[in-house]
Amino acid sequence: MSTILKMKNITKIFPGVRALDNVCLDFEEGEVHAIVGENGAGKSTLIKILTGAHVPTDGKMEIYGKEYSHFTPHEAMELGISAIYQEFILVPYLTVAENIFFGREQTKGGFLSKAEMNKKTRELCLEMGVEVDPKAKVMDLGVAYQQIVEIVKAVSQNAKILVMDEPSAPLTTNEIDAMFNVVRKLKSKGVTILYISHRLEEIFEICDRVSIMRDGQYITTAKTNEIAKKEIIAHMVGRELGETFPGGAGSTDEIILEADGLCTRKINDVSFKLKKGEILGFGGLVGAGRTETANALFGIDSLDKGHIKVNGKLLKVRSPKHAIQNGIGLIPEDRKKHGLILSMQVKENITFSILGKIKRWIFVDTKEEMRISEKLQSDLSIKTPTLKQKTRNLSGGNQQKVVIAKWLATKCDVLIFDEPTRGIDVGAKQEIYHLMHELTKDGKSIIMISSEMPELIGMSDRIIIMYEGHINGELCAGEYSQERILELASGQEFGGLGA
Ligand SMILES: Nc1ncnc2c1ncn2[C@@H]1O[C@H](COP(=O)(O)OP(=O)(O)OP(=O)(O)O)[C@@H](O)[C@H]1O
Ligand SMILES: [Mg+2]
Repeated sequence: MSTILKMKNITKIFPGVRALDNVCLDFEEGEVHAIVGENGAGKSTLIKILTGAHVPTDGKMEIYGKEYSHFTPHEAMELGISAIYQEFILVPYLTVAENIFFGREQTKGGFLSKAEMNKKTRELCLEMGVEVDPKAKVMDLGVAYQQIVEIVKAVSQNAKILVMDEPSAPLTTNEIDAMFNVVRKLKSKGVTILYISHRLEEIFEICDRVSIMRDGQYITTAKTNEIAKKEIIAHMVGRELGETFPGGAGSTDEIILEADGLCTRKINDVSFKLKKGEILGFGGLVGAGRTETANALFGIDSLDKGHIKVNGKLLKVRSPKHAIQNGIGLIPEDRKKHGLILSMQVKENITFSILGKIKRWIFVDTKEEMRISEKLQSDLSIKTPTLKQKTRNLSGGNQQKVVIAKWLATKCDVLIFDEPTRGIDVGAKQEIYHLMHELTKDGKSIIMISSEMPELIGMSDRIIIMYEGHINGELCAGEYSQERILELASGQEFGGLGA
């Protein structure tokens, strides 16, 4: 193994924030190297320096024995550094092949040869061990395949170093396996992979080495077969941390929300009851209709059939605004798209949905705004130099916390959390779990959609499992196991094997 890239004493300072502080890291040819750290530790900043999106304040990088003070985006590409970000940058209405060769279309006698592009794309995919139709439109592919197309695209550009910033976040278990196979293929071809993830189990499955960062500083690097998960966490948070779920308050028998035979374009005959003080888990594979059920309750998708009752009264939810007025809040899965205005300050985002309540005549009561925001900042430990910071400048995980803060501020009676801890680090996860329990103790009810098995099992008072748009089973506390949930989620009938 030889070292392909060295980062030497890299420092990056943003106004009020030392995002990277004298970081030294080495990457070897053909290794899968994990970078882990809490939200705001500096992982994405490090990556952006490698891809040329940021210029370091200080330090040097050495690649193929040559030293650079920074890379331009073009240099980074020429040097074979490619990144796959969580926000895909493919063009949705073009085909797979057109996306892969975007900007460098294959020409035959001056004309664009679609056939040639399709053929090459098929070859590239086969090399990676995946089957994708080159002529399929990207928007018709599932998110896992979109990601694979991104990887194939990088490979076709001769990527030598491939950076993956939280690639597994939107994927289901099967899809993650498929992605890992692609990663292994790349590794066998000598590609170096930098892998960022908050799911530590993955690190042990796919990575050779792991580097840990904390508060912008490099802490240590270890071989994954020589370090325990517990040690990684201790390095990340600077203290020991157990992985426990706080005990719940236990629900009452009072029904707060009732869904009866809900049908929309995407779901079919969904009925359930939510009790006061309850955390009702929703399990299932991506695309099973869980988010769509949430959308129906929150007035995003209109009902073709069925009805919703809140506190025993029929409620025709007309719009999200109307849902909020009736005490229903939704913390969406895709928080960047639906949850935040990135150009606004952190405190403005937090109090955005309760503006009406903190106004004095026509002016915003800025003291009240600050008081509410400070409380939520500390409850959720949102890392920002000031609450006046533009939300855009927060790290990914901290932006997610701002969305959660915003919904907590509304004090809705029913809160729907769609994948509440996606992209959130181990320490902050526990804070969010704790907060959810506090809410239920206050008599609020929670619907929690989650693809993380331990979270679903550890947090829910009951679990409903969806499959292809309908409810395929319900499990009460004491009845659930990972196997049982997976069976129901993959369409096995309720009362079948293992029940
Ligand atoms: N453009 C920017 N302007 C100001 N501060 C920034 C900017 N980008 C990042 N930061 C700050 O730098 C620090 C590191 O952020 P970074 O995005 O690298 O964290 P991260 O480790 O990727 O976290 P996460 O796990 O939440 O994605 C954070 O405190 C963040 O607020
Ligand atoms: Mg990040």
